[in-house]
Amino acid sequence: MKDYTGKLAFITGGASGAGLGQAKVFAEAGCNLVLVDVRAKPLEEARDYFKGRGVRVHTIQLDITDREAYARAADEVEKVFGTPPQLLFNTAGVNTFGPVEKSTYEDFDWVMGVNLGGVVNGMLTFVPRMIAAGKGGYIVTTASVGGFHGSALAAVYCAAKAAVISLMESYHMGLQQYGIGVSVLCPANIRSNIAEATLTRPAHLAKTGYVVNEQTIASLRQIHSHGMDPEELARHTKAAMEANQLYIITYPEEKERLEAHFADITNSILPMSADPEGARKRTEALANWAKSMAERRDAAAKQ
Ligand code: NAI
Repeated sequence: MKDYTGKLAFITGGASGAGLGQAKVFAEAGCNLVLVDVRAKPLEEARDYFKGRGVRVHTIQLDITDREAYARAADEVEKVFGTPPQLLFNTAGVNTFGPVEKSTYEDFDWVMGVNLGGVVNGMLTFVPRMIAAGKGGYIVTTASVGGFHGSALAAVYCAAKAAVISLMESYHMGLQQYGIGVSVLCPANIRSNIAEATLTRPAHLAKTGYVVNEQTIASLRQIHSHGMDPEELARHTKAAMEANQLYIITYPEEKERLEAHFADITNSILPMSADPEGARKRTEALANWAKSMAERRDAAAKQ
């Protein structure tokens, strides 16, 4: 996608950080915006920011883990704009850190619920509507470089982001035939407000095994103050979307670590197979499948 004029962008977490950066960059490119966020005040401030800038902005306070509310938000969008979005940004996310062995069910339910469940809800709400609209489009989901490897101190977050990366790999393949591009954005550090994520944690999921207090929030704030500017990140994201790039990783310093990680995995493959002929057939079948997917994708791209 290269022409954004009059296109509708639906951005979760659009009131802050990476989502707000996307809102600014894609509004500048000509998009109308739907900004959704669980927090009312930042949402109001984001709407005020766009006042007088010639951008059509609609805001909805939404908890992306609430499926019924998500469907109502999608209906509201269609009522207001007469169309589902052509651009979907699954950007909202939360984090909290602590030793993996101290994690509670509530740590899992909150972090998985928002970071994975919220993305699933976005996809299941909008993908059928985007396909039915027949206008193609683009979906960018924000994961994290943390999704490529585990972490003893961010286990739940990394697991959620790993699932999101895998999901987007699948959607990237599956939605090509509808002219819907899919990318997964994997940042390392963003100058955002995620240090305060824990303030949005629902009371019924409050039980945590981690130490979370003013001091831990302040030290996270310090780390994120060195992160990439959200608008800069959104500009890189836009360029990668225009190249229909699946992975968007804008942190060159991560390359060495990722190479070492994937080398570790491939170097762990044992040089034996219980059934060499079966393994050969499976490899052949997978190659044929990949070839036919590529042919379908090329055919869809030519339409
Ligand atoms: P942020 O905190 O500035 O923005 C996230 C927004 O999501 C907030 O406005 C928050 O209110 C909203 N949100 C949280 N829970 C929600 C829910 N249940 N429903 C709707 N909205 C909800 O943080 P940031 O950094 O801009 O985060 C954006 C994405 O980037 C997240 O998915 C995060 O995991 C990811 N990320 C951030 C990194 C960083 O260094 N800040 C690094 C890697 C990934």
